[in-house]
Formats: sequence, C-alpha cells, structure tokens
Amino acid sequence: MLNKNQWRCLLAVGMSVLASAAVHAGEVEVLHYWTSGGEAQSVQELKAMMTARGHSWKDFTVAGGAGGNAMASLKQRVLDGNAPAAALIKGPAIQEWAELNALTNLDAMALFDKWDDFLPKVVADQMKYKGHYVAVPVNVHRVNWLWANSAVLKKAGVTVMPTNWDEFFVAADKIRAAGFVPLAHGGQDWQDFTVFETVALGVGGPEFYDKALLKLDKAAIGSDAMKKTLETFRRLKTYVDAKAPGRDWNVTTDMVIKGKAGFQFMGDWAKGEFLAAKQMPGKDFICMPAPGTANAYTYNVDSFAMFQLKSWEAQKAQGYLAYVLMGKDFQERFNLRKGSIPVHLNLNMDKFDECAKRSNVDFAATAKAGTLLPSVAHGMALSTAQQTAMRAAVNEFWNTDSMSVGQAIGRLQTLNAAVAPKLAHVAEKK
Ligand code: BGC
Repeated sequence: MLNKNQWRCLLAVGMSVLASAAVHAGEVEVLHYWTSGGEAQSVQELKAMMTARGHSWKDFTVAGGAGGNAMASLKQRVLDGNAPAAALIKGPAIQEWAELNALTNLDAMALFDKWDDFLPKVVADQMKYKGHYVAVPVNVHRVNWLWANSAVLKKAGVTVMPTNWDEFFVAADKIRAAGFVPLAHGGQDWQDFTVFETVALGVGGPEFYDKALLKLDKAAIGSDAMKKTLETFRRLKTYVDAKAPGRDWNVTTDMVIKGKAGFQFMGDWAKGEFLAAKQMPGKDFICMPAPGTANAYTYNVDSFAMFQLKSWEAQKAQGYLAYVLMGKDFQERFNLRKGSIPVHLNLNMDKFDECAKRSNVDFAATAKAGTLLPSVAHGMALSTAQQTAMRAAVNEFWNTDSMSVGQAIGRLQTLNAAVAPKLAHVAEKK
C-alpha cells in the first residue's frame, strides 16, 4: 500500500506527465464486463488515456451483463493470490472486499485531489470503508428508464409516452396490434430483477421501495403494494416475445433500435447502444422515467475498487488509473458514450444530450426530495447474499407461472435471514 509521501510523488509524476511526454510505467490490469458496442467504446476512452501516458493496459474482461460472471472470476483470481489492479465492483460489495483486507487505501490521493469537495456524499460514502477511500466512481447510471422506438410508437398510434401503468398497457396493446413486440426483454435473472425494482418503484412509490426492497421490512413485503407490484410484473411478461429467455440486454436493446420492439425497461447503459448505433435521442428513440417513477431516481454507480499490489511499478500504474478516473476530462468523454452522467458535482453538461441532462437535474432534485434510491438489482444496496437471494426469488416468479403472488411474497419475506456468508469463502482461504 502506498504511504502519503509515495502518493504525493506519484501525483507529482502524474501531473508532469499530463503536461509533457509519456513516461514508462507499469501495467494496469482491469477487470470489467463492458463488452457491448456502447460499453466497449466507453472503455476505449479509458484505455487510450492510460496508454497515452505510457502505461500498458491489460483487459481482464468477463462478458455477462451486470457483472455476475465477472464477480465469480474475480473471486477465483483473489483466491489464487493474483488480484488485478482494479475491478469494476459496486455498492456494498466494495465494503465486503475491503473487509477481507484486499483493497488499497486511497486516502492520500483523495485528500490531494479533494474528492470530498466534488463527489456527492451519497456516492463518496459508497467508495469508503470505515471512512477510508478504497474505490473510485466513474459515473451515475439511472436505472428507472423506459426506452422507446419513436417510429414504432408512431406506427402504432401511441402519441405520448405512458406516465402510469394503465397507460403503459394501453400503449403496449396498440404496439402489439400494429405487429411489433411491445416489450423487449432479455430473460436473464438480473434483467428480470431490473424490471422488478422499476415496477416496485412505479407501483408502490419511493417509500414502499425503501421499506420493502432496501429495509426488507416484512410488513411492506406483505402489503397490497407488493401484491400489485408482482401482478404488474407478471402482466408485463405477456408483452414479451417467446425468444426472450437468455437473451443479452444489448441484443434486447437492439430490438428497439431496429424497430422490432416498442419499449424496453433498462438503465441508461442502454442509451450507449442507441448512440453507438448513431441514433438520436428525442428523434429516433425516446427516454422517459418508467411509469409512475418520474419523481424518483434509482441510481447505480460504476466504480473501480483498487486491489493491493506488490510491485511499485504496478502500484504507480494503479495510482495513475485512479487519478485519471477522477479527472473531469475522462468523466466527460467516458460518460458521453456510456449513457450515464459524470459523478462530479457541477460538471458542465453542455455536451450531453437531453436524457443525460434530465438525469443530472433529477439526480439533484431527488436527492433533495429524499427520493434518490440505490438500485437493488445493480448491487447498490443489499449485501451480496441478500441481493443474490432476492434476485433468485424474482427470477423464479418470472419464470414459474404456477408460483402464486402469495408464494412469491412468502419467499421474499425470508430475505432478512439471507445475510452472511458474503464473501466468507474467500476469507477462509486467504
Ligand atoms: C453496470 C453497467 C453495465 C450494465 C450492463 C450494470 O450493472 O452498472 O455499467 O453497462 O450493468 O452490463
């Protein structure tokens, strides 16, 4: 782990490199799962910035939306005593890794670069373990979006985007009648979970979401709002095509891009796909908060946790990566492609499109109103064990038509018990 003076020296090197030519430094190996068209273009911005400064970049890429497969590979690498320099890890999982003493302390750099001054507190807190920085955030994704193909809506006679669930089903019926798939969905557990949390927020509102999905309050899980959520969620399935099972999220977004489907519920990494396909927001496609969720915001912050490394060269490259990630230049370039917004407070949003501008305004407004909520489906709230258990219950309900709403509620009510062992199996072998 670098001490304060080493960080200062590293930062000094970093600054002078920015101003002059590249120096030779270490290799930085980064675990991520950004393999779709828009994601690959975004990560390319980062690679280019690192290699331009003389560092060599090594991809440790594990395909699979939302990172389920990547986390399994990471555990194996850490067990083997061969951690990468950085890994795309989010929310409470950051703390779980820090608890195992696997992450490096970034406080000196955070202090030098004044991270606390420009990061929203809600984001900064997630990057810290016991008050110390161990991870670096790159963006804020909003999850509660509804995406639509403008031409499909027009052909189906849908003139306005639905703002509540009744309107959504009326519009979906029209789209079906016009011969399109109403709802593009990929039947993978994390995609089911993404739609589920959005429906819960839209049907039950922010307070219900907080109690039932974040606090795992048994009464809230057993409430009418949860019944209505599950019924609405199940009804959505009737608007999905038969080829949905197993379909990747970006292939699903492509159905909307190509005009085969009308709508998709997905976080704004989907916008990265529309943009990569050269589509224009407001013209070719539409972004709107999902029905009933306009005054709330489910956030999902992509962040890189930094692992402890042995060699000084590797530590230098890692430190430089952290420095670049927090720079305004990188944050702007990356987020223009990724679909998300920069994590910096007060960054100029002029170059961003309407969807990002709305996300930026809503992030601040919902933070004030107390309706800015962590996305459960994207690992921002529960422990890994709780999240895994909830995802499995939701996935089973989506796939099992014979499972009643009551049975699903019963299953969800057992979740409080689904704490630990977290990453204990890694700890045992360390
Ligand atoms: C991540 C995004 C990623 C998406 C699809 C989300 O959980 O936060 O960065 O693009 O999953 O893999």
